[in-house]
Amino acid sequence: MERVFEGKVALVTGSARGIGRAIAEDLAEWGANQVILDIKQEDCERTSKEISEKYNVKCLPIACNVTVKQQVQEALEKVKSEFGGLDFLVNNAGILKDNLLLRMKEEEWDMVINVNLKGPFLVTQAFLPMLMKAKDGGRIINVSSISGLIGQVGQANYAASKAGLIGFTKVVAREYAKKGILCNAICPGYVQTDLTDALPDAVKEELRKSIPLGRPGHVKDISKVVRFLCSNEANFITGNIIRIDGGTVIGL
Ligand SMILES: NC(=O)c1ccc[n+]([C@@H]2O[C@H](COP(=O)([O-])OP(=O)(O)OC[C@H]3O[C@@H](n4cnc5c(N)ncnc54)[C@H](O)[C@@H]3O)[C@@H](O)[C@H]2O)c1
Repeated sequence: MERVFEGKVALVTGSARGIGRAIAEDLAEWGANQVILDIKQEDCERTSKEISEKYNVKCLPIACNVTVKQQVQEALEKVKSEFGGLDFLVNNAGILKDNLLLRMKEEEWDMVINVNLKGPFLVTQAFLPMLMKAKDGGRIINVSSISGLIGQVGQANYAASKAGLIGFTKVVAREYAKKGILCNAICPGYVQTDLTDALPDAVKEELRKSIPLGRPGHVKDISKVVRFLCSNEANFITGNIIRIDGGTVIGL
């Protein structure tokens, strides 16, 4: 494939591993320089080195907790001085703290809402002015979940955060369409990553059985859709919520 994203810059939050890393790799494969932003500096540096060597792009590692406004502001300054602009923002960083509602601790609620919903708010607000200057129009992709569409037992906090992210996506799409911004959300189903590997085996088996296509998702199933949404092939798509779930919630 031609390097159609040559000269463009992408920021994927939570890109040191998992789905975020796969998205950064696919965007890099088409030539986009990367901001590898995650919690730990050494993880960001390792992933940056591997991606820059493999795809011959520039990678800027930034340790940043997306829930802390000051750190997000510092990340913005670093991106400004290294790249001077931003074309693609993918709000991917997310966590799980599952518990039945009656047992859910206030900290479990707050942590999940903070990372999964306040994080995208802070990061999007900070980087929007830069995205509005992107030559071919800025793209924002928010990584939600089918849990935000159908709810899942034990996920009152997570489902609320991911449903909130869908509402947020629609508002950003409406408010900044005239500024050339396209904003969409994706809803992955069960994808095998470190996040889901931590679930009990019985839960993983149940999840697998709920997928009509008969297999869990691979990170590449997700990253390829994000890459499409960043490409010019998708330039009439905004405010959309796209399921990538092997058919798990067919009919919604
Ligand atoms: N794996 C799945 O089955 C699945 C399904 C639906 C949606 N999702 C969503 O996809 C996204 C990625 O999930 P994954 O499975 O790759 O998870 P993962 O745990 O493997 O990766 C998430 C990354 O986000 C980073 N992160 C967490 N909190 C952060 C913070 N406060 N600031 C910056 N970075 C932070 C982590 O350090 C980690 O590198 C999440 O938003 C998740 O909710 C995953």
